Order: sequence, then structure tokens, then C-alpha cells
Amino acid sequence: MKVIKNIVIVTALIFSNQTLADATKTVQGNVEKGKELASGVCAGCHNPDGNSVIPTNPTLAGQHAEYLLKQLKDFKVEEETPAKRDNPIMSSMVAPLSVDDMKDLAVFYAQQKTQPANHDVDESQLELGKRVYNGGNLENSVPACSSCHSPNGAGIPPLFPKLAGQHADYTLSQLETFRQGTRANDINNTMQMIVLRLSAQEKKAVAEYISTLK
Ligand code: HEC
Ligand code: HEC
Repeated sequence: MKVIKNIVIVTALIFSNQTLADATKTVQGNVEKGKELASGVCAGCHNPDGNSVIPTNPTLAGQHAEYLLKQLKDFKVEEETPAKRDNPIMSSMVAPLSVDDMKDLAVFYAQQKTQPANHDVDESQLELGKRVYNGGNLENSVPACSSCHSPNGAGIPPLFPKLAGQHADYTLSQLETFRQGTRANDINNTMQMIVLRLSAQEKKAVAEYISTLK
């Protein structure tokens, strides 16, 4: 109950009602068409079922459809303005996709089962990683990751992505892109503000811990 109350408070503080209303519309898409699209060029980097084996490419399987749709839209470069999530590879990938294609892909990947990241876990990082994930860092006012991404990393749709089982290399790379500002698609700069207060060691440790969550 305490966790739920905290989430409600955090959510209410950070996100306006309009943002919430926009985000809570659930995604309607065609899973079969999504499967077909996913088996094309995407499969080369994310695998046909979205469980990527290359640790710098994110696993998409089991991620929430709302979040996936938002990312695909955010990668899109509109009339020379940089994408909100500025990544040359993915921007070129989404260029030919219609919004309906994106919806189909999002519902397909969301229905696939996440295979946990299969890398050698650096056990020495897990104690610190767990502490940061569940408790943040009071000294530097880092909020607990679990308050938005949930204690088991399942996330809270529609706004807060699932993190559990994600490749540590990818997670770490995102904490870096939020720090550099090349990824600026987080509502109200939430993640960008958080990562500024994390030490390099804390980032590495929390990324490692997240990869072990199921
Ligand atoms: C050449 C490799 C490559 C291909 C092909 C590719 N991706 Fe990606 N994808 C990536 C990388 C690398 C990232 C991480 C980008 C970043 O750092 O922001 C990514 C990120 C994503 C994300 C964001 C995931 C998250 O957790 O935020 C989605 C969704 C996605 N890709 C979907 C697709 C789809 C759909 C296709 C096919 C139309 C595709 N990708 C093709 C490499 C690729
Ligand atoms: C106040 C809520 C909040 C807290 C606390 C929070 N996050 Fe996030 N996080 C978000 C939101 C919202 C997004 C999605 C941004 C978007 O729409 O692209 C996100 C996205 C992410 C992503 C990108 C996921 C992907 O697939 O690309 C990572 C990694 C992440 N957070 C890690 C963390 C870590 C580690 C912590 C704790 C140190 C943390 N977050 C704390 C709200 C939060």
C-alpha cells in the first residue's frame, strides 16, 4: 500500500493531467501485421521476437505497447528538427513507418515473453545496484527507481517502462544519453534530472542489478 501511495504522489507531482490523459489511451494494433514487420529489418538487431542477443540493442519483448509506440514516434525526425530521442540508426529505421505500422509493431512486441539478459552478471555490483534501485541515494536526492519502475522492474504502464531483464550495456547507454541530452523525450526531464545526480559507479551498478530482475 505504501508503494502504491508513493507512486501516486510521484506521478501526480511530475505529470500533468493532460499528459496522463494522452498516455492512458491504450494502443490498438494488428499483432499479425506487427509480427510480419518485426521479422524484416528489425529482426537483424532485435531478433524476430524482440529478444535481442546483442547487449547494446535493447530487448523489446514484453515491453509495454504504449511506451514502445511513444519511442518509435520520438525517434522520428520531423522537418529537420532533431528527434526528441536522437539516434541515427533508429531514426532511419522509423522513417518509412506509418503510425499504424508503429502500433502493430508495439502490440506485437508487447505480447512476446521477455528472455532475461544472458550475460555474465558482475556479482560485485549487485549490492550497490539493489540499494540504488530500491532506495535511491538520500545524500544526492536520487529517488528510488522502484517508485516509478516498480520494485520488480515490471514498470507501470502507460508511462513508466519495464526495465527488468534488460541488457546492462543498453541500460547504461541510456543513462548516458539522458545525461548528454541526446535523449530528451522523458516527460518533464525526469530521467535527465535523475541521472545528473548518479555517480558513474552507481549507474554501472544499477544497470547490472536491473539485468537480473525478472
Ligand atoms: C542496426 C540495428 C537496428 C535495427 C535494424 C533496428 N534497431 Fe531498434 N534499436 C537499435 C538500437 C541500437 C537502439 C537503441 C537506440 C538508442 O540508444 O537510443 C534501438 C532502440 C529501439 C527501440 C527503443 C527501445 C526502448 O527500450 O526504449 C525500439 C522500440 C526499437 N528499437 C524498435 C525497432 C524496430 C521496430 C525496428 C525495425 C523497423 C528496429 N528497431 C530496427 C538498433 C536497431
Ligand atoms: C519519477 C519517475 C521515475 C523515476 C524515479 C525513475 N525513472 Fe526511469 N524513467 C521514467 C520515465 C517516465 C521513463 C520513460 C521516458 C520516455 O518516455 O522515454 C523512464 C525511462 C528509463 C529508462 C529507459 C528505458 C528504455 O527501455 O530505454 C531507464 C534505463 C531508466 N528509466 C532507469 C531508471 C533508473 C536506473 C532509475 C533510478 C536511479 C529511474 N529510472 C528512476 C521515470 C522515472
